[in-house]
Amino acid sequence: MNTHVEIDSDLTETVYHFQKGTDGTAIDIDKFSLWYGEKQALFDNSIDIQRGLVTALIGPSGCGKSTLLRSLNRMNDLIEGLKTGGRICLNKQNIFDKNVDVISLRKRMGMVFQKPNPFPMSIAENVTYPLKVDGVRNRNVLAETVERTLKGAALWDEVKDRLKENALGLSGGQQQRLCIARAIAAEPDVLLMDEPCSALDPLATIKIEDLINELRGKYTIVIVTHNMQQAARVSDNTAFMYIGKIIEYGKTQTIFTKPGSKKTQDYVTGRFG
Ligand SMILES: Nc1ncnc2c1ncn2[C@@H]1O[C@H](COP(=O)(O)OP(=O)(O)O)[C@@H](O)[C@H]1O
Ligand SMILES: [Mg+2]
Repeated sequence: MNTHVEIDSDLTETVYHFQKGTDGTAIDIDKFSLWYGEKQALFDNSIDIQRGLVTALIGPSGCGKSTLLRSLNRMNDLIEGLKTGGRICLNKQNIFDKNVDVISLRKRMGMVFQKPNPFPMSIAENVTYPLKVDGVRNRNVLAETVERTLKGAALWDEVKDRLKENALGLSGGQQQRLCIARAIAAEPDVLLMDEPCSALDPLATIKIEDLINELRGKYTIVIVTHNMQQAARVSDNTAFMYIGKIIEYGKTQTIFTKPGSKKTQDYVTGRFG
């Protein structure tokens, strides 16, 4: 891959370590801006998110990580007074085009939130839910999905004997892996994760990180984290954001060891947070 580093401390210009427009692009964010009413939260952001890799969005609290993540599957649509500018393309189609069906867009981009949010139903029903909504009734197909997705989320061995128990009885870490299994059940292209470990203890966190490493290659994963060690452990590429702007984007190792922007350097070395 071509690399070109522009050392630039001016916060209006993103420092890129990647050339735009590579074949491996799954999500093309192009001059994307967003306003909550009068308040602008995202400023003219452009990056390519690469297929099958794990991309971390890092930056201090309130810099717009969740806003950008939630824009990718149009979760923000539900907010009154929201305005956007620019484009976001998933597999080359602008997700804001009039003919885009938002429900199917969200199916292609599964989402995992900070707080695990399993449905108040059995463990098995949580992962068959997306199929049942689609009208799948075949018992074999449903049973196969339960096993495949729970194995895929590294949860099967822990729950295979209690599939009919209520999911709310699981530990927080198990609940979060169940939410990942549920997201996988819809057979998405992309998994969006917003600080998926922030409500979990260190052991449960490691299990989720291991799982993310296993899911690499099968899905395009975008993970928001304020934990820089976590970004360094799980991601291939990292975008550093500050006050609504992607300041720098590149290979995670580059961002952490040879950042091109002073602001990135100050953040990754813990000078502010
Ligand atoms: N629904 C909303 N309405 C108005 N402002 C919002 C809303 N959600 C977030 N914001 C504002 O947008 C900015 C970015 O927030 P957010 O994306 O949550 O940041 P982060 O995830 O990096 O902590 C913040 O200033 C926040 O207060
Ligand atoms: Mg957030």
